[in-house]
Amino acid sequence: MEVIIQGDASAAARLVALIIEKQVKLNPYSVLGLATGRTMEMVYEMLVNGHHTKGTDFSLVRTFNLDEYVGLSADDANSYRSYMNRRLFGKINIDMRNTFIPNGMAADLPAECLRYERQIRHVGGIDMQLLGIGQDGHIGFNEPLSALRSVTRVKALTPDTIRQNGPLFGHPDMVPRRAITMGVGTILETSRCLMLVTGMGKAEILQKAIEGPISSMVTASALQLHPHCTVICDEAAAANLDGKDYYRWIFMNEPEWEDYRKL
Ligand code: GLP
Repeated sequence: MEVIIQGDASAAARLVALIIEKQVKLNPYSVLGLATGRTMEMVYEMLVNGHHTKGTDFSLVRTFNLDEYVGLSADDANSYRSYMNRRLFGKINIDMRNTFIPNGMAADLPAECLRYERQIRHVGGIDMQLLGIGQDGHIGFNEPLSALRSVTRVKALTPDTIRQNGPLFGHPDMVPRRAITMGVGTILETSRCLMLVTGMGKAEILQKAIEGPISSMVTASALQLHPHCTVICDEAAAANLDGKDYYRWIFMNEPEWEDYRKL
């Protein structure tokens, strides 16, 4: 795992957007794993902007989203399908048929989960997976106690997550109680992970996820097992990290980051 600390949320999102743009340029057929949430809004804005100003071409890219609420249709304003169409897919030249999100309205949910997992394998797996982190340390909707080898399935949301996502629905009572989510195991199978974490509200959980023990109580900590995971955070989210000096040293000295240091 590597940790890159940027000055503020905007610089952190910019770095994530640049890494994704580079990936798409190097491999126009990239399979991207995408995430939702407030943290990602800036990344998608920057990708849209890059599409218009730098001509980033998404025409051959395929995408798989981490999760979707059970019971929300694609045209429900709060569904993750609607979020993605509004913030990214509708504003770039991606082929909508290449954008995959679990169907939260499927009559047979276990079958839908199996189908989604197979679809990811069918395209050869995810090249680059974007991730955020929930207040309880979840990735996707892998709530505490999710098996670290889990695959796509239905998860019950915790009261904390329902409260956290409540404002987006107007009221916590409106938040669906269940979601389909890629499993921790599905995420660990991806070729590369980028986790973006910003704001002081995430400082405590970020420290646990990166520097604490690997535990199903904080599913983001499983990323410590991933062969190529980069955590990009801002100073506020990095506040509690013990190894800050070392992480900064890596960013300033490793050749991999040379192009990005000049920004
Ligand atoms: C939801 C999503 C997660 C996301 C998390 C954090 O629970 N399922 O994928 O990481 O929210 O969201 P935010 O960026 O709004 O803090």
